[in-house]
Amino acid sequence: MVLSNLTLRFKGQENDVVQDVSLRVRRGEILCVVGESGCGKSVTSMAIMGLLPKSATQISSGRMQISSDEWHLVTDRLPAALRGNEVAMIFQEPMTSLNPAFRIGDQIAEVVQRHRGGSRSAALDRAEVMLQRVGIANPTQRLREYPHQLSGGMRQRVMIAMALANDPQILIADEPTTALDVTIQTQILDLIGDLRDETGMGTIMITHDLGVVAEIADTVAVMYGGQIVEQGPVEEVFRNPQHPYTIGLMSAMPRLDRPGERLAIVPGTVPTISNMPDGCRFRTRCAFATSHCATRPQLTDVAPEHGVACHYVPLEKHVVVSA
Ligand SMILES: Nc1ncnc2c1ncn2[C@@H]1O[C@H](COP(=O)(O)OP(=O)(O)OP(=O)(O)O)[C@@H](O)[C@H]1O
Ligand code: SF4
Ligand SMILES: [Mg+2]
Repeated sequence: MVLSNLTLRFKGQENDVVQDVSLRVRRGEILCVVGESGCGKSVTSMAIMGLLPKSATQISSGRMQISSDEWHLVTDRLPAALRGNEVAMIFQEPMTSLNPAFRIGDQIAEVVQRHRGGSRSAALDRAEVMLQRVGIANPTQRLREYPHQLSGGMRQRVMIAMALANDPQILIADEPTTALDVTIQTQILDLIGDLRDETGMGTIMITHDLGVVAEIADTVAVMYGGQIVEQGPVEEVFRNPQHPYTIGLMSAMPRLDRPGERLAIVPGTVPTISNMPDGCRFRTRCAFATSHCATRPQLTDVAPEHGVACHYVPLEKHVVVSA
């Protein structure tokens, strides 16, 4: 899947909430999108899913490509035939996306029938297979239960079962583990990794947690203020972070043996969208900012497929360290 140059704003606002964001995820790959709260991760994924209402949002550029399907986001939303079928999404809090009034089995079967047709009993069989596949014990019995009868971890498994019921090519997981305790979080991440290996789906995983990125990602995109400031293969970006914001996040990186810890705060606060500076949006917090940073830096490769949007990379070339 390739997303190219997505720029959008909420109607009535004077500034773009997502600016020129491009993402690529290949088959069998996990791309993690990371950044502080409010940087536009969920809005980007909603735009990919075609879930932003046209009445409230204005997309000024953006193109999507999945296999041979390609469309302009300015005029079109994700074709309904692809949603849930080719691209599926799981959310942070499964209770908000499971209907409390319906049995688990019926909810999964409904999704299967909507996309594949077929009989109710075939769809229920598929639901049972999916529950088994995501590691839920006694699937026959669980099919007949309601969401409130399951634990948080099990509900998230059900959401994954539902999302994957139609073998999508792309799974978008928006902070699927933040509401879960650490042990369950690890199990869910392992499950997503296993399913990726099994099915070859591409996954976009949105997270606050650099520990999660280190554990699961093949590639990473770091967002700040609606822009991608750095992206690349995960080992490369972790070994050699170049953007001052990424360096700040990494130096405050949660320890790998303490997963689930949130990103430490880089000094200063993120300006609101209406107060975002022109040019490099990080410049109100950047120790290296100059007047030149009022011009927007483009993502530029510093290594194969490792892009950084900063005028001063590599930093060591520009920063004079006084003795
Ligand atoms: N419906 C809306 N109307 C206006 N502004 C919105 C709306 N939804 C989100 N925003 C704004 O868009 C920006 C990006 O929000 P988004 O939810 O994508 O952030 P996020 O990176 O997912 O954050 P978090 O990590 O907290 O989930 C925020 O400034 C938010 O306040
Ligand atoms: S472009 Fe300027 S403000 Fe932005 S990260 Fe680089 S040095 Fe800092
Ligand atoms: Mg979000």
